[in-house]
Amino acid sequence: MAHAQHAHPSSKETIAEFDRYVVPNYRRYPISLVRGENSWIWDAEGHRYLDLFPGWGCNLIGHCPPRVVEAVRDQVGTLIHVPNTWYMEAQGAFAKALSDRSFGGQCFFCNSGAEANEAAIKLARAYGAPRGKTKIVTMEGGFHGRTFAALTATAQPKYHEGLGPMLPGFVYAKYDDLEAAAAAIDDETAAVMLEPIQGEGGVRIPSPGYLPALRKLCDDRGALLILDEVQTGLGRTGSWFAYQEFGITPDVLTCAKALAGGVAAGVMMAKPEYAALLKPGMHASTFGGNPIACRAGLATVETIEEEGLLERAVGIGERFRGQFEALQREIPEKIREIRIRGVMIGLDLTFDASDVVARCLERRLLVNATHGHVLRLLPALTISDEQVDQGSAILADVLREAVI
Ligand SMILES: Cc1ncc(COP(=O)(O)O)c(C=O)c1O
Repeated sequence: MAHAQHAHPSSKETIAEFDRYVVPNYRRYPISLVRGENSWIWDAEGHRYLDLFPGWGCNLIGHCPPRVVEAVRDQVGTLIHVPNTWYMEAQGAFAKALSDRSFGGQCFFCNSGAEANEAAIKLARAYGAPRGKTKIVTMEGGFHGRTFAALTATAQPKYHEGLGPMLPGFVYAKYDDLEAAAAAIDDETAAVMLEPIQGEGGVRIPSPGYLPALRKLCDDRGALLILDEVQTGLGRTGSWFAYQEFGITPDVLTCAKALAGGVAAGVMMAKPEYAALLKPGMHASTFGGNPIACRAGLATVETIEEEGLLERAVGIGERFRGQFEALQREIPEKIREIRIRGVMIGLDLTFDASDVVARCLERRLLVNATHGHVLRLLPALTISDEQVDQGSAILADVLREAVI
């Protein structure tokens, strides 16, 4: 693909601008990134990096996926934005594409994961409040976003610190623990909300019977089951949505990150009988479902389908597994557990993973650490076998050299 070559300010110059003009709420690596192509990304100095964590999970089909680039280019020259007081072709088509690939629900579009979860929580209240059910049960170690309801739903004290009080009505239960869930869910519970696989919480995959039993508990007690698939959704685990691998159907599902090939987009999908509870005027998002995001989303779905990327997710995951299992046999004192579901990969280390991330960066490999000691990779579905091997080899060297 041809790229217009711009002269970029140096990383140093961009950093100086940030220091003066941008709110310092993020810890950033001292590098300005300027261009990406599939699993490669370049900085302002022209260095190339292998990206095993593209866009924090948003670039599931790689940087600048060709169909998405084309669709966005075409759409911006035709119609950039129309508000939700009008009908628009791309939003209807994208809603159908998502509904057909999941549980036949109806879509509310927004722009981020937190916003999708806010919509789900409002829907749960609209469902529960008239029945005297206002409680929402979420799971410890979960992550649902930074806006206030999503933040309250995020049962991790470190994210609440200094920002209280949180929203009333939330109850936390231990993740992957049925007894804890059974104790927390009662007749006043409007909804249970959780990630089918915890991402930020350390790539935690639940025991096989957990989600089906939770589904049954919700049914028995008249609570909605809301699945936050912001990170797992749209093919990361090898299915369109991770719930499809656990033999259950949620009442409400949220997705964002990868939804539109890297363009900002979020969605809440609900079974039609629950979707109908959100009457005109109860909820809205100005940019939600705009034509650019929906065209990008349609192009993303098309790419995944036409390139067989759901199947490929499993192949990539297993290739990484082979490399990491060999490494674990070599340095068992450093790798406690390997957790992989498609291209959602966690290496549970016996020590803090942040230094590993820094050492990988020096060798131009981008990875992530979460939950202190979990090294997390969210590679693109379009990564090649050669890149998997190359990335694994660098990571293996860094882990071998790590002093614990
Ligand atoms: C499972 C999950 N839910 C919600 C969010 C929040 O998404 P956003 O940052 O787009 O608001 C995230 C972000 O990491 C996430 O992983």
